[in-house]
Amino acid sequence: MAALRDCKAWQDAGLVLSTSSNEACKLFDAVLTQYATWTNNESLGGIEGCLSKLKAADPNFTMGHVLANGLELIGTGRSVRLDRELGSAVTAMVALSKAQPLTERERLHVSALDVFARGQLPKACELWEQILQSHPTDLLALKFSHDTYFYLGYQRQMRDSVARVYPFWTPDVPLSSYVKGYYSFGLVETNLYDRAEKVAHEALAINQTDAWSVHTIAHVNEMKAEVEKGLKFMKETEKNWKSSDMLACHNYWHWALYYIEKGEYEAALTIYDKHIAPVCLASGSILDIVDNCSMLYRLHLEGVKLGDRWNDLLGVTKKHTKDHILLFNDVHYLMSFLGAKDHKTTEELLTTLQELARAPHEDHQLSLAPHLGLPLCQAFVEFENGNCDKAVDLLYPIRYELVQVGGSDAQRDVFSLLLIHAALNSKSEAKRNLARCLLHERDLLRPKSPMTERLIRKAAAVHSMA
Ligand SMILES: [Fe+2]
Repeated sequence: MAALRDCKAWQDAGLVLSTSSNEACKLFDAVLTQYATWTNNESLGGIEGCLSKLKAADPNFTMGHVLANGLELIGTGRSVRLDRELGSAVTAMVALSKAQPLTERERLHVSALDVFARGQLPKACELWEQILQSHPTDLLALKFSHDTYFYLGYQRQMRDSVARVYPFWTPDVPLSSYVKGYYSFGLVETNLYDRAEKVAHEALAINQTDAWSVHTIAHVNEMKAEVEKGLKFMKETEKNWKSSDMLACHNYWHWALYYIEKGEYEAALTIYDKHIAPVCLASGSILDIVDNCSMLYRLHLEGVKLGDRWNDLLGVTKKHTKDHILLFNDVHYLMSFLGAKDHKTTEELLTTLQELARAPHEDHQLSLAPHLGLPLCQAFVEFENGNCDKAVDLLYPIRYELVQVGGSDAQRDVFSLLLIHAALNSKSEAKRNLARCLLHERDLLRPKSPMTERLIRKAAAVHSMA
């Protein structure tokens, strides 16, 4: 790792930090670097260790509070609505900022987190963009906005936000190659696959341990259904990204998707049992939990017997039943409740979401609950209850709007698969015809997908039986 920046180094970079503690400045850099690279560096004490030392080095360092609170909020596992401790931490950060002569940039960071904490994610992005217009190398603003656009399903904004600052990230700026990785992901999510792959390879040529750039290439191979290429790439690069502890589980998830695509379920389960389930249980990270739910649900749709795996997962998801921080997370927790046949918890998730959705709310996600989150969740419930026609009625009208619940195209594919499986198993002939239409659509977009071919054969069999 490059030398960590002290007060003067941050000032020279045009990113003044309002503290006189060089130690606090260096620890700020250490945490930012680990966040930006998806890797807890144990020799530095990991993100948690560095944050504790940062707090001790200067308890009144506002940007230290911004970093600590921002990472909690962006993790989407805690919210100020349910977590009084986090609420107090955000209030204390705002109060501290008012009592100090901060720079305009620092004040904007505080405001962005303040509105993020209240669920106003688009507004938070506007404030980070305001920072980036005058401070294009503010990595914290860039990464927070990148992650938040992802949660919002704002795919073009995720790409263009990085593009606007891209020329300023010259090779001498610390971590500049990782910015290529962020840009490459925006490209893949806006279907610019060849350019995404090229930019991700440029980043990897500079730093082959860049797990996010590996991840972009995993997405390109997924979206193009280039299964063998995808498998080969993951195998060849595993040694480079497996110690990026915050992303490794997700990269393994992508790896296992290729096996599901091929119908090699045992191979997918081997990855699941070794690299997804145990990691998720230990980390409790929301990304890992979501991957876990999604992987099992995809295998479940394929008719794979999963043994006790759903129950093991329930131990992690159940405590998030009433979270309702992101609809995307909610629907994934729901998959695990349905998989484990935990009707009580399923009901609890739905009723608490319905209650929140009824009240007028400044929370962006909750404003999407009535017409997107709830029908999506209900479609899963109806499908599991064998009411496939009803699941189609709920899901089909909102399919093009579901991007708004966030996540990547590859992650949201589980919703498309649910719709196809529900349509295939519907009682109505019109809906079974719809299944065939949806499969033609899928086949043209991702030619030569073995899974699509399997489903087309199944649709033909269903049709001839009817
Ligand atoms: Fe991904």
